[in-house]
Amino acid sequence: MRKQIAAANWKMNLTYQQGEKLLDEILQAKTPLQSHQQVIFTVPFPYLILANSEVANESHYAVAAQNCYHKKSGAYTGEVSAEMLQSIGIKYCVVGHSERREYFGETNQQLAEKINLLLQYGIQPIFCCGEALAIREAATQNAWVETQLKESLFHLSAEELEKVIIAYEPIWAIGTGKTATAAQAQEMHEHIRSFLAKQYGANVANNISILYGGSVKGSNAAEIFAGADVDGGLVGGASLVAEDFVAIIAALK
Ligand code: PGA
Repeated sequence: MRKQIAAANWKMNLTYQQGEKLLDEILQAKTPLQSHQQVIFTVPFPYLILANSEVANESHYAVAAQNCYHKKSGAYTGEVSAEMLQSIGIKYCVVGHSERREYFGETNQQLAEKINLLLQYGIQPIFCCGEALAIREAATQNAWVETQLKESLFHLSAEELEKVIIAYEPIWAIGTGKTATAAQAQEMHEHIRSFLAKQYGANVANNISILYGGSVKGSNAAEIFAGADVDGGLVGGASLVAEDFVAIIAALK
């Protein structure tokens, strides 16, 4: 059974002290979780070790990095490698968030390299895909997302692909307060799963968690997560408020 996941994406928010308090509040809520449900805190690099120690005794909670570099090691001042993440016990890493693609020019090919390195070091990538508003308005979002998946993931073996978590994040819904309707989310998730099935077969496609991202809130999470192919969410703004994120965790299927 594939995992249902509530992933918090803190982005470049919160001080160390604020982050520690937020984690404590969320963990203190002790939201009941089943074995197929997972919570992931995607925190800034300087907080990874703290966050990982906070969740060390919590079986349903884990920590993710927000990014890593697409080279193994070397003279890349300011960058963080997959091997470094592995060495501090990180199990997940977000790859190709639309903000990385837009502000840092990350390409599908570079993201393929990041995914290879992460898998090599035993870290599960959370691969983000999704279209901008102009593409949605031109009704070409399916082809756009297919290209992202093909160029960054389709070189993987089935066994490798099963370690990847996909996050569909329509750019027009990120941080805008504008959420895709539950039907729009389900429609794209179903499309992604059937596209994966064409390449890897239905069994592999059915094992992959596909998260929705874009203005998920405590108030809309249950409706969005209800979609048959929606396996939870990658949450920005609402993950910074304990009460909101706890409600999102509680909305997991
Ligand atoms: P948002 O961000 O929930 O603030 O829209 C989602 C994301 O970018 O992962």
